[in-house]
Amino acid sequence: MNVFKDYYNNTVQLSFLDHPFSKNPKHVWVICRYKDKWLLTDHKERGMEFPGGKVESGEAAEQAAVREVMEETGATVNKLHYIGQYKVDGRHETVIKNVYYAEVQELTLQSTYYETKGPVLLKKIPENVKNKSNFSFIMKDAVLESCMLRIKKLYV
Ligand code: GTP
Repeated sequence: MNVFKDYYNNTVQLSFLDHPFSKNPKHVWVICRYKDKWLLTDHKERGMEFPGGKVESGEAAEQAAVREVMEETGATVNKLHYIGQYKVDGRHETVIKNVYYAEVQELTLQSTYYETKGPVLLKKIPENVKNKSNFSFIMKDAVLESCMLRIKKLYV
């Protein structure tokens, strides 16, 4: 178990075990790769981040992951790998999120990207992402670096 503070000083617990905090998490986050690049979305308020969101009622977390990637980037997921789970103890609520690594098959233009401006492809995630105002706060804690290390070791 990895414990640290996030960008807003909330406590985060991250684990690579099999669903340690909840069998049915209500949130998902998907680290996506397409043709040797990282695929992110540009959220209208938060800035660039890997896609994700809330699991809808009647939906499995994996289905939410595939749906959110399509909605926010137009990408079709070819393979989805479970990476881990994290829990954020916020001031008002606790959020539990599954992290996945997705291999993307194709990117198709969408008429809407919902609350985002759509796909962004990056060769590299900048080292100093924490200091960049065009990146989202969810990219600014140790969840990103720990998960990226694991993904690079296992898949990339
Ligand atoms: P809506 O209900 O969609 O309007 O969103 P919300 O702002 O209430 O957000 P959500 O329920 O997704 O998350 C509630 C709080 O949890 C946020 O304000 C953040 O402080 C925190 N949070 C959510 N997701 C993450 C994340 O991926 N990383 C970190 N560090 N905190 C998160």
